[in-house]
Amino acid sequence: MQTLISTGQKRAVTLQMLQQGAQGFDGKIAADAKLGQGFVFTPVSEGAPVQHIVLTGATGFLGVHVLAALLRNGGPRITCLTRAADNDTALQRVLEALAKTGAEGLNLSGLQVLAHDLSRPVQDTPGLLPRIAQADTIINCAARVNFTDRYIQARGANVMSLRHLLHLASLGMRMHHVSSVAVFSPHAFNRCEVTEDTRPRIGAFSAAQGYCQTKLAAELMLHEAERDGLQNTIYRPGLIGWDSQTGHGNPADFLTHFITGSIRIGALPDIGIRLSIAPVDYVAGAIVGTVLHGTSEAEALHLVGEHALSMRELADELSKAGAPVALVPYETWLARIDADTESPLKALSLLLPPDFPLCPAARTPSLLDSMAADSGPRLSDHITRAELSKSRPPQTGQGLNFQDFLKRALT
Ligand SMILES: NC(=O)c1ccc[n+]([C@@H]2O[C@H](COP(=O)([O-])OP(=O)(O)OC[C@H]3O[C@@H](n4cnc5c(N)ncnc54)[C@H](OP(=O)(O)O)[C@@H]3O)[C@@H](O)[C@H]2O)c1
Repeated sequence: MQTLISTGQKRAVTLQMLQQGAQGFDGKIAADAKLGQGFVFTPVSEGAPVQHIVLTGATGFLGVHVLAALLRNGGPRITCLTRAADNDTALQRVLEALAKTGAEGLNLSGLQVLAHDLSRPVQDTPGLLPRIAQADTIINCAARVNFTDRYIQARGANVMSLRHLLHLASLGMRMHHVSSVAVFSPHAFNRCEVTEDTRPRIGAFSAAQGYCQTKLAAELMLHEAERDGLQNTIYRPGLIGWDSQTGHGNPADFLTHFITGSIRIGALPDIGIRLSIAPVDYVAGAIVGTVLHGTSEAEALHLVGEHALSMRELADELSKAGAPVALVPYETWLARIDADTESPLKALSLLLPPDFPLCPAARTPSLLDSMAADSGPRLSDHITRAELSKSRPPQTGQGLNFQDFLKRALT
């Protein structure tokens, strides 16, 4: 006989399982973050021009904007490492991603795209190493970005991949690694000021936050590598939003799902979270500017929105852009999401606590905690904005172009 259980019951079981599964993971993260033997980093001479960049994640949302910004700038050769059966298919995938951004007239003569799965060592792909061994720079934009992952599901793409790239970097390359503000656990850093020089630490993530745990393990590994001589810049974006010029967004990310899922039910949750959205062209521009024109004195750069939107402000923006939504109690919003069989928030909603506002000590930490307005880390980007405005002011990425984003996202 088939047993019918409600979404609410499924949610309770899922959250309980994740809470139990959290135990023991801190040790795993610490072990994975250890660099271990066999890494000797050849120094890169300061001020040497960037001539050959290895770029990962170029079929992804941020990576393709980084690639477009690099190509617009001209100059260095670029080799993309992209998952595919062969190099031709890999090139095809990157060109398709570029076309979706709407970037036109790019000079592709210095671009090569090679097939490689980053969860495997570079040596496992025949013929790859000789084609990239002379590169001087790695920009690592690749990651498995899925907020429903457990640690173990994202470990290959987000942690082991970095270890393999560090072997490559040890040949004499400077590393630019895209991390995330999600490395700061909202509970461990509750109400703490977090600047670019704050180091994240292990602890207080739940098993529901496998993605955050892998990003943390990767950052900790990089700090060890820095001690051993790696030249490295870490970028910590918050929520990466659509392109401020074109409205090109990522149809598969949390932000698009949250906004389109809420528009479908005509409602936003009336809760104290804030969305700090940084346009992808701002994030990509800051990374490319730093790679080409300067190194950073700070431990990391924080690439977050100029202003964090409350749910009221988001509702106003959506109404102005022609998609009116009402603010409703959180429980009502969640129940409407549950009832919408086509909701893009379906998978994620199982991980949303039934009892927001926060009671963090008592229950499984969730994605929403990192956006809570009156708790969690107090993130600052003063050093980043000062550095960017001094030496490499972003040309784009100001303001959120809801109109064009919605036109694209809702069709
Ligand atoms: N999006 C955000 O709001 C946000 C916020 C903070 C930080 N970040 C960070 O920014 C970076 C880029 O994120 P995104 O939003 O652009 O993600 P995305 O759109 O999902 O792109 C991820 C990229 O990584 C590649 N990748 C994943 N696993 C791989 C593997 N095993 N081998 C080779 N390539 C692999 C993907 O290739 P395929 O096309 O083959 O899958 C894709 O190109 C990530 O490091 C992410 O953690 C993102």
